Amino acid sequence: MDKILIEGGAALRGEIQVNGAKNAALLIQCASLLSHHPSTIRRCPPLTDVRTMNRLLAHLGCEIAFDDGALRVDPGQVAQHDLEAPYDLVKTMRASVTVMGPLLSRHGRARISLPGGCAIGARPIDQHLRGLEALGAKVELNHGYVELSANRLVGNRFIFDKVTVGGTQNLMMAATLARGTTVLENVAREPEVRELAIVLNKMGAKISGAGTSTIEIEGVDELFGIDHAVMPDRIEAGTLIIAAAITKGDVLIRDAPVDDMHAVLSKLEDAGILLEPTAAGLRVKGPESLRPIDLETRPHPGFPTDMQAQMMLLATQAEGQSIITESIFENRFMHVPELNRLGADIIVNGSSAIVRGPTPLSGTSVMCTDLRASASLVLAGLVASGRTELRRVYHLDRGYASIETRLKSIGANIQRIGGDHG
Ligand code: EPZ
Repeated sequence: MDKILIEGGAALRGEIQVNGAKNAALLIQCASLLSHHPSTIRRCPPLTDVRTMNRLLAHLGCEIAFDDGALRVDPGQVAQHDLEAPYDLVKTMRASVTVMGPLLSRHGRARISLPGGCAIGARPIDQHLRGLEALGAKVELNHGYVELSANRLVGNRFIFDKVTVGGTQNLMMAATLARGTTVLENVAREPEVRELAIVLNKMGAKISGAGTSTIEIEGVDELFGIDHAVMPDRIEAGTLIIAAAITKGDVLIRDAPVDDMHAVLSKLEDAGILLEPTAAGLRVKGPESLRPIDLETRPHPGFPTDMQAQMMLLATQAEGQSIITESIFENRFMHVPELNRLGADIIVNGSSAIVRGPTPLSGTSVMCTDLRASASLVLAGLVASGRTELRRVYHLDRGYASIETRLKSIGANIQRIGGDHG
């Protein structure tokens, strides 16, 4: 397994490009199943998760071609295949469950391995299944798989018990080819939900209200392929902003989607970071000292849980006490023990972490446990004295493409070494 070595202390300077959003690209890959026409997805990030989704699409019968950021999916032969998302793919990447809606809506059947839990929590799919049943699907659980069938889904009103991004997206996709109109209430308002609605409408769907708490979908008979460039990744952008800030750097972050980042940018400004939107992107200057921040993760437009670990690292360098509360997932503090091994002073109390700073960090070997925890460890390495060695960086590669190459291009002292069993 690869490792990443970082010699801390370099101030980051220069320009860096934000890639296409992982959590938009994955759903657009699923949406391509709603048509038998081919689709082209541009600015598609070359991530492990995107390649895993391509393996699933190929398993379902799609022709896949992916080079230089352009992904072409031809789902023309899907109907002749067993429409199954197998355990080894679903356990690798939970987002596989969002092929359920498209397969059921276009082909009337799907067999999906139950995802099981993951590092950050149980992450059930009860809301997905309740919603699909409301649209007329027959849902059975057999031998660790959920088996769904429907002659044709029928539009209905469905109110989510809790806000779920994937549940909203699965139901939105399923309703596009249902007979009649569907009204989804208490839906997720994430930018990636809005982006999916844009893509589906480009395919010929009739969706309104995405980005608000109620989405209305008028069913149509057929959807067509699209050619679409994926929106920039707001979580990658937020991660890069913190990298520039904690190293007291001066970086222009190209294509940072500032309009989708108000909660994050507001907290970063509260911490004393200088943010200057420009035509080319967001200019970030790290202050001499950082102020502590308090935050609670919430569904969009609240503070995103995917930025929690990165903000916690920032808080370790702030002058004072910060309190960070994780309200979305039940086990998303696995970066805390690793950060404390680097010298941080973090105490977890239930769903809150109390961070006392500033604490000088000193490099050592650390273990990546999940995607965003890995990102916080990279950030830690950038400011720790001496060498930090990250192990199991496959977690990091799920959501950040060639991060070491890109950080090196703006002055980080970082390298990847391969093949060691760590
Ligand atoms: C999406 O996951 C993102 N993944 C996650 O990003 C992100 O953390 C999450 O939304 C929250 O913003 C993708 O978009 C591919 P949820 P998703 O359903 O859809 C509970 C990253 O780092 N829940 O909104 O799986 C669930 O357990 C990843 O890029 C139910 O109880 O998240 C969680 O506590 C990590 N029943 C909460 O809702 C359900 O049926 C929010 O989950 C569904 C969800």
